[in-house]
This record gives sequence, C-alpha cells and structure tokens, in this order.
Amino acid sequence: MNRAVLALLAASALSVFLVGSAHAQQAKATLNQLMRGTLYPASNVIFSAQDQNPGDVPKAKDPNMATDLLTSSFGRWEAVENSALAIAEVADLLMVPRKCSNGADVPVMNEDWAKFVQELRNAGMTAYAAAQTKNQDKMIDVSDVMTNACQHCHAKYRDRRPAGRCK
Ligand code: HEC
Repeated sequence: MNRAVLALLAASALSVFLVGSAHAQQAKATLNQLMRGTLYPASNVIFSAQDQNPGDVPKAKDPNMATDLLTSSFGRWEAVENSALAIAEVADLLMVPRKCSNGADVPVMNEDWAKFVQELRNAGMTAYAAAQTKNQDKMIDVSDVMTNACQHCHAKYRDRRPAGRCK
C-alpha cells in the first residue's frame, strides 16, 4: 500500500469516527426539557396512586385522546406500570451527553451522578413491581422511594440559582 492510500484510509477512518461521535452526542432536549417532558408527568402518575386507587379511575370520554394517562386506553394500573417503566428507561437518557438549561454539560462523568441515576432506575423498577400487585398501600412506600430518588440528585445538582445547576 502506498502512502496516498494509507492517508485516504486514515482519513475515512477518522470521518467514520467523527460522524459516529457526532451521532452519539445528538441529544435533542436540554436536561430541563427532558425532566419536564418525561420524568415530571411519569412520576405524577406514580404519586397520584397514593390518594386515588388507579383501579377506580373512570375512563375518559374519548380514551384514545386522553392526556391523563390514568383515564386513557392504557389507563388505570397499566398506566402506573408503564409510567414506572418509562422512568427506569428514561434514566438511561440521563447518561447521554447533553446540555443543562444554563448551557453547562450534564455531568455524566461524575461518579455520584451515575449513582443518582441508578437510584432513579431502581425506583422505577420498584414502582413497577408494586404496580403489578395492584395494592394501593404499596404505592405509598414506593412514592417515598421515588421522591427520594428525585430529591437526592436535585439537592446536589438542581441549584436554585440557574448558574449553579449541573455543577
Ligand atoms: C441524576 C439527577 C437527577 C434525577 C435522578 C432527577 N433529576 Fe430532575 N433535574 C435534575 C437537574 C440537574 C435539573 C436542572 C436541569 C436544567 O436546569 O437543565 C432537574 C430539573 C427538573 C425539573 C425542572 C425544574 C425547573 O426548573 O423547571 C423537574 C420538573 C424535575 N427535574 C423533575 C424530576 C423528577 C420528578 C425526578 C424523579 C422522578 C427527577 N427530576 C430526577 C437532576 C435530576
């Protein structure tokens, strides 16, 4: 192989690497948008099960268009199960490089960040197991577990001053 061919191969390997890493970085939402759009609504479905038995929630007039998951076609306990699983899955998205609302990078390389994310993943799976039993008493304990998982990370990384967030 001559030098020109080697250089060409090296260049194409580099471009594959660059395109690949650019693709991996392609998060669409800031962390704040991700929280507001996913964890916030999903955890409210879990928390609501403390006060109201999901099995008693009436269906919406048009369940296919319902914005309240509990009253939707996939409602009641199934909505609680799926919201719990959604939280466990979204935990993985918290490890994807992205920006916070103040332009800081999400600190995915910090050990405690990964630990807080794991706590959230576990809380999601604990809530899923509880929802499967359809026992409302269990949802009270599980809501505590979930609240703690959110708060442990927020206490450190969701500063009240916008500039202090994610650091
Ligand atoms: C691993 C850390 C972490 C976990 C776990 C976490 N959050 Fe967050 N959350 C943050 C950070 C950091 C911000 C601020 C992000 C920003 O400003 O871009 C935030 C922001 C938010 C916001 C938006 C606040 C605002 O200013 O509008 C909501 C709502 C929210 N989180 C809900 C939750 C809920 C509910 C849970 C648990 C089910 C949760 N979060 C779990 C780190 C976390």
